Amino acid sequence: MSDAAVQRFYRFHACVYDATRWVVLHGRRQAVQQLRLRPDSRVLEVGCGTGLNFRHILEHLDPVRGRLVGVDFSPHMLVRARRRVAAQKWNHVELREGDATCLRLDEPFDAVLFAYSLSMIPDWRAALELARDHLREGGRIVVLDFSTFDGWGPAAPIARAWLGVHHVRPDRSHAEAVRAAFADVEVRHFWGKYCFIAAGTKARTASAGAGAGVPV
Ligand SMILES: C[S@@+](CC[C@H](N)C(=O)[O-])C[C@H]1O[C@@H](n2cnc3c(N)ncnc32)[C@H](O)[C@@H]1O
Repeated sequence: MSDAAVQRFYRFHACVYDATRWVVLHGRRQAVQQLRLRPDSRVLEVGCGTGLNFRHILEHLDPVRGRLVGVDFSPHMLVRARRRVAAQKWNHVELREGDATCLRLDEPFDAVLFAYSLSMIPDWRAALELARDHLREGGRIVVLDFSTFDGWGPAAPIARAWLGVHHVRPDRSHAEAVRAAFADVEVRHFWGKYCFIAAGTKARTASAGAGAGVPV
C-alpha cells in the first residue's frame, strides 16, 4: 500500500463514498463528543474525506467564533466536501488539500480529529506527530478507527483481509501511540474490537509523564 494507491482508490470511491460508508463507518458522534468542543473551538480534521463528520463537529461550534479546517490529500474527496460546505453555507469551514504526513498549518488548534484516516496512512506516526504539533497545549486529540477484530473469532482474518482490499491497515499500535504521546488518554473498543476511539489531551509543557511524542 502506498499514498499514491490510496489517492487512486478514492478517485472512484469518492463517487460512492457517502452512499456506502454509513454501513461500515460508525462512532462519529461519540468521537466528536470526545473532542470536548466549545463554541469558539478551532478544530482540525485530518483526512476529512467528503466531510461526513462536519455536521457533528459544527453542532458544537459558533458560526462566527468557531472554526473547522478539513485536510485531505484526495482532490476527489475534497470536491465532495466542498460541495457539502457550499450547500450548507458553512462559512466557518476551510478545506485544504494536503498530506497528513507533511502538514504545515500556521495556526494552533484546540482539537484534532482522525476519523478512519490514520489506518490508511502508511507513515501514520508522522501524521500523529504533526497533529500533535498543531495542537495547543491542553488541546484534545481523538482517533476513531478500525480495531483488530480480536473478538470476531474465525471471521477476524476475513474482516482484516476485506479492510486490506480497501487500503486499511488496522494496528493495535495506533491506540498505543496515542496513549504514549498524549495525556489522560482513554481508549474504548466497540463490537468485539471492530473499532476504537482513543481520546487524550496534549500535555502542558510543565507536566511530566505522557505526551513526550509519538514513539517509533
Ligand atoms: C476512510 S476515509 C475517512 C474520511 C472521513 N474522515 C470520514 O470519517 O468519513 C480516509 C480519508 O483519509 C484520506 N487520507 C489518506 N491518507 C492521507 C494522507 N496521507 N493525507 C491526507 N489525507 C489522507 C483519504 O483521502 C480519505 O479521504
